[in-house]
Amino acid sequence: MEKLKSKPLEFLLNHPKTGHVTSDVNTETTERRSFSPKKIKIFSSKYTNIVDCPEYTFSSDKEAKKALPDIIDNIVQRLVPGDDKKESAKRTFAIRRNIGVFFSGGPAPGGHNVIAGLYDEAKKYNPDSKVFGFILGSDGLLESKYVEITQSLVDAHRNMGGFSMLKTGRTKIDSQKKIDLSLKTCMELELDSLVVIGGDDSNTNAAFLAQQFKSSGIKVIGVPKTIDGDIQVKTDNKEMLCAISFGFHTAARAFSQNISNLTTDAGSDIKYWHICKVMGRVASHLTLECAFQTHANLSLIGEELADYTDQQRIEKAQKNGMVDYTAYGMTLRHLSRLICDTIVRRAASGKNFGVIIIPEGILEFINEIQVFIIKLNTIIAEYNNIHDNDFHYAFPSLNDKLEYLRRLARGMGDKDKFPIWNLRDDDLFNQLPSFFQEGLLVERDTHGNFQFSQVKTEKIIMDMVKEYLDILKETGRYKIGIERSYYKTIMENANIIPDKFATAIFKNPDDKYLIIKESIISLKTLRQALISENLIRQEDTLPEPIVRIFKLSDPKFKTQTHFYGYDGRGSDPTHFDCNYSYNLGMIAFHLIANGATGQMAAIKNLEKKFDEWEPIGIPIAKMMHLEERKGRLELVIEKTLVDLNSNAFRVFKAVRDEWLAAESNQDRYRRPGPVMFAGKTEEDKPITLTLNSI
Ligand code: FBP
Repeated sequence: MEKLKSKPLEFLLNHPKTGHVTSDVNTETTERRSFSPKKIKIFSSKYTNIVDCPEYTFSSDKEAKKALPDIIDNIVQRLVPGDDKKESAKRTFAIRRNIGVFFSGGPAPGGHNVIAGLYDEAKKYNPDSKVFGFILGSDGLLESKYVEITQSLVDAHRNMGGFSMLKTGRTKIDSQKKIDLSLKTCMELELDSLVVIGGDDSNTNAAFLAQQFKSSGIKVIGVPKTIDGDIQVKTDNKEMLCAISFGFHTAARAFSQNISNLTTDAGSDIKYWHICKVMGRVASHLTLECAFQTHANLSLIGEELADYTDQQRIEKAQKNGMVDYTAYGMTLRHLSRLICDTIVRRAASGKNFGVIIIPEGILEFINEIQVFIIKLNTIIAEYNNIHDNDFHYAFPSLNDKLEYLRRLARGMGDKDKFPIWNLRDDDLFNQLPSFFQEGLLVERDTHGNFQFSQVKTEKIIMDMVKEYLDILKETGRYKIGIERSYYKTIMENANIIPDKFATAIFKNPDDKYLIIKESIISLKTLRQALISENLIRQEDTLPEPIVRIFKLSDPKFKTQTHFYGYDGRGSDPTHFDCNYSYNLGMIAFHLIANGATGQMAAIKNLEKKFDEWEPIGIPIAKMMHLEERKGRLELVIEKTLVDLNSNAFRVFKAVRDEWLAAESNQDRYRRPGPVMFAGKTEEDKPITLTLNSI
């Protein structure tokens, strides 16, 4: 046959099809960029006003009152149509403004749309207004590194994920020097206002900047961003003002698509347990949402574990007139037992495979680990306070760090120190695998947060699970159930009467899935069982079908681990997040134009239909409380954890056994599909939000 001649490379490179398929911009990107998010109705009025909403009350923290005296009395404000504004107010509204903006903390899908909404409104009211974007988060503000945001820059990023337009950073503005530098940059750029797009720590920054900039007249507005979903604001009367931050929905959907694909694979190849660690520094909101999106077999919710009490142990101690403090809260060991229980139960119904979702921050809710985290936080912070040198520079290797801890335990640390690390701590710590010790000693971020994403949580837990499963297997308690009809078929095919052997081999010969007796853990013990029941003689070989059944019942525990975090964080936003974040940008502008400062742009009724969305400003200072950071108490915005009394959690608790499918019922996996920004089938909000709004 004549050999096909290959085309010259030049011809290939110049071919229009090559140009089309290798272009950076594909059809999806073009469509995304040209998609116009819906605008809340009020933004069709020419002007807006803000009205105070004294009906929404919050109690303020004493320390916040002291530290933020000029913004602590802010109250919730609602944006309303303002076409009746006085002419002078209209002129003020539309003055030429220079607005600064920066991203802060981890990326969250929708960030670019906040800037797009802010930019579009700023230009709409005065084409001479300028928006400056600081590069690399607050570092750009401190070091005066910025770009002027232009129409083409905005257009290239509309509805696109990530924070790539400006990049982001985690630097905390935590000293007067940094405040002064920030103010200097703002003054040089003649900024009228500054918008901080960030999570709890970044909105904390925003509150301090608002306080310090008050006298200069520069307004500061925060925007609630974080995939973790832990910025939720309720009034003292539990009225929801901000149900979720932007980025949460997209990240959850992106993770869920991957997890759902794994459920499909697991249910097809039936040989793996897929262990999926899902981001969320502390709170388990993302895991809960992914559980609803995918119906994975087991989803652990950290907050529930923290709430755990061992009733049996409590009662036993009570009988002896004692209190067993170890019965409160979950230990790693106990958690591994719970997971094993799930695996064993599913195996018994023939399913030695499945999908488990573990929240990234789960260790925060495990008793002994939490104690280690607190103690190590304090030790590192104390070291840094006392010495010029940073702990991690002073003790670069794990061994150096362990040696320092050993010295502390022996009372050889710095003098007059509270003996926070004793010999027992040291002993327990040294029993942990070194990768875990390293994880627990990892450098805290600038806000003093423990970096859970750096710890191989899933490995720690699954190693313990594997160890215990081995014990269960050796003691005959971990077995794969054999479908009775299958057992019958292969026995009958070999002309053996199934019932004759069933009672000798299985502990439940009448059930749908047959479980081999605990005492039968090897071919040798199987043989003995058959001999003692006079089913075979000493000199007989084991019948082949019985050997087959035994082998099928013998479980191999094989896992694949996955981490879902950075991938979903970088996903292009869902339709919900496109709309939500764009409107947040518009709200930020309208709050500024109406003279607000120290407020967080938010949307009330987010959990309801789009037509009911209500743009508001929430006083950031009122959200602050004292929290331990780097060994001392600091004012920060409180993270919202999963509420165990919420509708979403209660529904999850009620249905999760069905998703576990540990009995003979089918798996109930759900296919959420890919992240989309438009289309009839695209869901309009997170499932947990829908449930909580009922
Ligand atoms: P934010 O709180 O800044 O939104 O970041 C959240 C997060 O994505 C967490 O889910 C995760 O634990 C953490 O950031 C990871 O941090 P890093 O980007 O420094 O690895």
